[in-house]
Amino acid sequence: MLAGRRIVLGVSGGIAAYKSVELCRRLVDAGAHVTPVLTEGALRFVGRTTFDALASERALVSLWEGDQRIPHTELGRRADLVVVAPATARVVGALANGLSTDVLTNVLIATRAPVVVCPAMHTEMWEHPAVVANIATLRSRGVTIVDPEAGRLAGGDVGVGRLANTESILAAIESTLAGSGDLAGRRVVVTAGGTREPIDAVRVIANRSSGRQGHAIAADAIRRGAEVVLITAADTSVPEGCTIVKVETAEQMGAALDAHAPTADVVVMAAAVADFRPVLVSKGKHKKADGPPAIELEPTPDLLAALGATKRPGQILVGFAAETDDLLENARKKLASKSLDLIVANDVSAPDVGFSHVTNAVTILDSEGGAEETGLLSKAEIATRVIDRVARLLTAVR
Ligand code: CTP
Repeated sequence: MLAGRRIVLGVSGGIAAYKSVELCRRLVDAGAHVTPVLTEGALRFVGRTTFDALASERALVSLWEGDQRIPHTELGRRADLVVVAPATARVVGALANGLSTDVLTNVLIATRAPVVVCPAMHTEMWEHPAVVANIATLRSRGVTIVDPEAGRLAGGDVGVGRLANTESILAAIESTLAGSGDLAGRRVVVTAGGTREPIDAVRVIANRSSGRQGHAIAADAIRRGAEVVLITAADTSVPEGCTIVKVETAEQMGAALDAHAPTADVVVMAAAVADFRPVLVSKGKHKKADGPPAIELEPTPDLLAALGATKRPGQILVGFAAETDDLLENARKKLASKSLDLIVANDVSAPDVGFSHVTNAVTILDSEGGAEETGLLSKAEIATRVIDRVARLLTAVR
């Protein structure tokens, strides 16, 4: 659930700020991408170095630092969830009333992501009518409030107001995320990597696909709440939070698609499936002394064309087109002949693009004749662009 999710962890100034260190670590351990945002008050209780060391990104403590041009809107936009633990009466009041006084309150007001607020303060403050009204306002707007517990407070006082325990906060974050994301409740199948077709016991026909683009697409779909099956022939690291089916050959990839594609809302074929395979595979190793072998090849089935021929109404099919010449023309032909909704056209001869690079530049073509050029971006950013288009199509067919 938390894997790959971008979480902003807001920490404001209360003695419970030390507990958010543990929360940060637990979120990172669960695979979340955590960006801490600390108020000046928080810095009186905990050091930023602690969060810098534990989190996925350096802590943000001011609007006026870092290399992002507009850090609060950037963070707010990219976040899948913002959690504030502990939230002081000031931060609760600022969010309820739309007041931005520091980087944390700016992020809270700028974001459209779900927000989880974990108040911690003295009992008198928690029970003050202004705080009670502010909490009610936040609840009515859909903010998840993790109520404080009764127990020992700062200065030896005892009462309600202690920050909820870490397990309760994690559970609230997970249940808030469960229903969120524009792909929540959707089943997405992604294929990735280049298939390897055996020649003999040790040799294969392979291609240069690293699988990175397909894995990034799976990661983006997971982050946006989809239930993802990643069918991959690649050895690169796989995203957490999805079902992984490891395959090697086009035939195995076809079998995995037969099992998972019929119930999918979306199938993204980012894999570089071999078009040809040896007709005969020697059981043992072909010996050098026997001379160069003559390898007769036969075509593999076109997996994507088969999916296009049998696709359910409303199912979204996305193909890739790896081209070295006549990029858009060839991609359009594939879009039409394989009955696709989108095709991601890749000029694999261009520098820094496609196979085995960390960056990519694609044109996303749709069945209505539209074309979106991305320019050179990271594969993660390309993935977001592709899934943005998929999400729009899903909303249209809903
Ligand atoms: N594809 C597939 N099965 C194959 C070959 C390709 O499912 N046997 C899919 C790829 O995953 C990709 C799309 O079809 O999404 C286009 O693949 P590409 O290699 O660009 O094109 P081909 O159809 O193989 O045609 P060509 O190699 O002649 O360009």
